[in-house]
Amino acid sequence: MKSNSCSTPFATIAPFYDKLMSFVNYPSWVAYIEKIIQMSSVKDKSILDLACGTGVCLELWSKNGYRVIGLDRSLPMLEVCREKIAAHDGALLINGDIRNFKLGFEMPIITCLYDSLNYLLTEGELLSCFRRVHDALRSDGLFIFDMNTIHSLRDEWGNNSFQRRDEGLFSVWTNKYDSMQNISSLNITLHVRRNGQEIVLKEFHQERGYELSVIGELLNDAGFNFSLYRHLTFTPATELDLRIMGVARK
Ligand SMILES: C[S@@+](CC[C@H](N)C(=O)[O-])C[C@H]1O[C@@H](n2cnc3c(N)ncnc32)[C@H](O)[C@@H]1O
Repeated sequence: MKSNSCSTPFATIAPFYDKLMSFVNYPSWVAYIEKIIQMSSVKDKSILDLACGTGVCLELWSKNGYRVIGLDRSLPMLEVCREKIAAHDGALLINGDIRNFKLGFEMPIITCLYDSLNYLLTEGELLSCFRRVHDALRSDGLFIFDMNTIHSLRDEWGNNSFQRRDEGLFSVWTNKYDSMQNISSLNITLHVRRNGQEIVLKEFHQERGYELSVIGELLNDAGFNFSLYRHLTFTPATELDLRIMGVARK
């Protein structure tokens, strides 16, 4: 058995990411977001997906007639994304950082999904991202995002280790929660077969949970009007939810 040392987040798992996420019902996420868009004044079908990863949602929106732009800082994730959306005319991918990106043009809709904002580990970084999003939106634009709550990172992930098998891919997820900083440190170990040999791949990730009041203050500081909902519902979010959705209007 061969083993590599821990790589930077998403560098090693990028080719396996879609398998690891095969349990996620992305079409229901996209349908929910489309409902929010349809209820708003935004009629222009153009979406910038921040931290787009391998582009599962970009592809779904493309198929639904949206012009899509994806931005992510991980080149290996963008590489998988590029292959996926190659067939979709007009799709644009940007290698950038959600904390300091500048587009040079305005978008009607910006999304940031599946824990991506939890990867920002300080309030300053989260505020910086919200400000960049505000700058990049046109005046009636929408910013739609999800976040894991403190409850999820502290009580679900906690100091637990989970073994998973996703479409035949065996992985171990070992979490350690720092309650002073509300940061979950996660070691992901993948067992893959290459040329008849088992290879062990490792990555280290960190996600931070934020109190809902803090998320609200930062959205306010960035200039947004907003609502926070329990994930995929229109029920107001509480600290007891595992995942929340934010719908922010410029
Ligand atoms: C859990 S994945 C989610 C990917 C995708 N949004 C999805 O729904 O499957 C988190 C993504 O956030 C990206 N990411 C994390 N921090 C980032 C940053 N500061 N700037 C840009 N991308 C970032 C990672 O590279 C990764 O692709």
